[in-house]
Amino acid sequence: MEIKTDSNDGSLVLIKQGAEARVFESTFVGRRSIVKERFSKKYRHPSLDSKLTLKRLNAEARCMTKARRLAVSTPVLYAVDPILHTLTFEYVEGRSVKDILLEIGSSGDGSKQLKDIAMQIGVAIGKLHDGGLIHGDLTTSNMLVRSSTNELVLIDFGLSFTSTIPEDKAVDLYVLERALLSMHSSCGNVVSWFPLHLVCCKFFFFPFLSFPIRD
Ligand SMILES: Nc1ncnc2c1ncn2[C@@H]1O[C@H](COP(=O)(O)OP(=O)(O)OP(=O)(O)O)[C@@H](O)[C@H]1O
Ligand SMILES: [Mg+2]
Repeated sequence: MEIKTDSNDGSLVLIKQGAEARVFESTFVGRRSIVKERFSKKYRHPSLDSKLTLKRLNAEARCMTKARRLAVSTPVLYAVDPILHTLTFEYVEGRSVKDILLEIGSSGDGSKQLKDIAMQIGVAIGKLHDGGLIHGDLTTSNMLVRSSTNELVLIDFGLSFTSTIPEDKAVDLYVLERALLSMHSSCGNVVSWFPLHLVCCKFFFFPFLSFPIRD
């Protein structure tokens, strides 16, 4: 894909290069957008690589759409390109929960906002899990807060899958808890702000998890 330095004309500006995907800012029919490109892995056989990349691309699009059906706010999916292996979605104007919590942690100010964000995270995860969807990468970088409405938006469904198994839900929560404790301990015990039903779920199911993922 051709990468340019400004996105006014529909060209692509790289904003993140990950191990599995590149994320660009662009425009789509005049709207600010995000293009996520899954790239091929040179060590895989080309036909296997193409199949796997396409499978993951479709899975991400499907899970994001399913989350929206479950009334969880996600960016609007604009397009799926199975040839270029890209997803194009709405650019969410706002900040990541990671940045907001880091700021609150360093200023020591914002417990009301913190409580509101924790409540929204809990409600969103409750809806996903009740609907049988596991996010798979619940970190604070994968949560944005829309600046116009203060609404929480979940992104990055690249590791998502459907499951109603309690252990899968517990692992999802465990990933979030580790992310909160490792990145945001300066905000205090953020986990204690969560809606009770989620916290109960975690404590109820954690004893059944296998040891390798525990400290
Ligand atoms: N819809 C969006 N609106 C605004 N910013 C976004 C949007 N989607 C992604 N971003 C920004 O791009 C970053 C990377 O996106 P994303 O988390 O989807 O990719 P990734 O972490 O590289 O993916 P993966 O974990 O699948 O490798 C996000 O942390 C966020 O800053
Ligand atoms: Mg991410």
